[in-house]
Amino acid sequence: MKIINSSLDLGKQLQIYRAAAKSVGFVPTMGALHQGHLSLIQEAVRCNDLVVVSIFVNPTQFNNSKDLEQYPKTLERDVLKIKSVTSTDLFVFIPSVEDIYGTDISSNSFDFGGIEHQMEGQFRPGHFDGVGTVVQKLFNTVNPDRAYFGEKDFQQLQIINRLVHIMGSKISIVSCPIAREPNGLAMSSRNARLTTQEKEHASKLYRTLKTVQHQFGTDDVSYIQEWVNNQFKDDEIISLEYFQISDELTLKSTQKINTNIKYRAFIAAYIRDVRLIDNIALN
Ligand code: PAF
Repeated sequence: MKIINSSLDLGKQLQIYRAAAKSVGFVPTMGALHQGHLSLIQEAVRCNDLVVVSIFVNPTQFNNSKDLEQYPKTLERDVLKIKSVTSTDLFVFIPSVEDIYGTDISSNSFDFGGIEHQMEGQFRPGHFDGVGTVVQKLFNTVNPDRAYFGEKDFQQLQIINRLVHIMGSKISIVSCPIAREPNGLAMSSRNARLTTQEKEHASKLYRTLKTVQHQFGTDDVSYIQEWVNNQFKDDEIISLEYFQISDELTLKSTQKINTNIKYRAFIAAYIRDVRLIDNIALN
């Protein structure tokens, strides 16, 4: 394992692998690594000669400066965790904000065909421009054969699929299932900010999605929507931000089910100021 701090160095090191026709897998992260990230790294290790893991807390994707300030930073532990999963060639790329952005810390504006305005796009204005900007920069530096993203951020995954298309790039995007705590709570770096009791209570998000999965196909979408709203109406710990059932491709919320379309249920909620999201495939 090698730690690399500059894009220039990384580019030089990668040239050696490219010249030897080695495949490169890339796992972009913002650190505070958990089992979900490690499963992406394991999958990348399994399928590539070299794996690059980036750790970079991207300032332009935080629409809330407090969220950026409070984002957990656990660099030493992250490096130890990465070390523990792999024996193949692995670079950990930890650039500075200046290395990535120079002096202009701002986002480009993208047209992702409308999916950027749904759900997270509505509640976190500018978020996907920030994600698109940093991932494009990272893709240009690493130019991997494959890049790995978790399904927990399903909307981000679809945004990245469109980004690759916009870039005219051949990078293959590999999606990996959501890693969960034993109680069902989707693993997230933000969970580190929850107390043990809050984590236990937060598993209600997953239990709600599981019930919705059972209801889907039998009950009307409007009934399911109301049922979910009722589950959280008097909840003193979880504050529901949105719940919706959407077409997997357009991410538009739906009221009517078409059996030829794949749907997912999406949920976002707050526990205090900690924002949690989750989703589940319905058919
Ligand atoms: O999912 C994340 O951790 C981030 O959004 C990503 C893809 C690393 C871009 O900063």
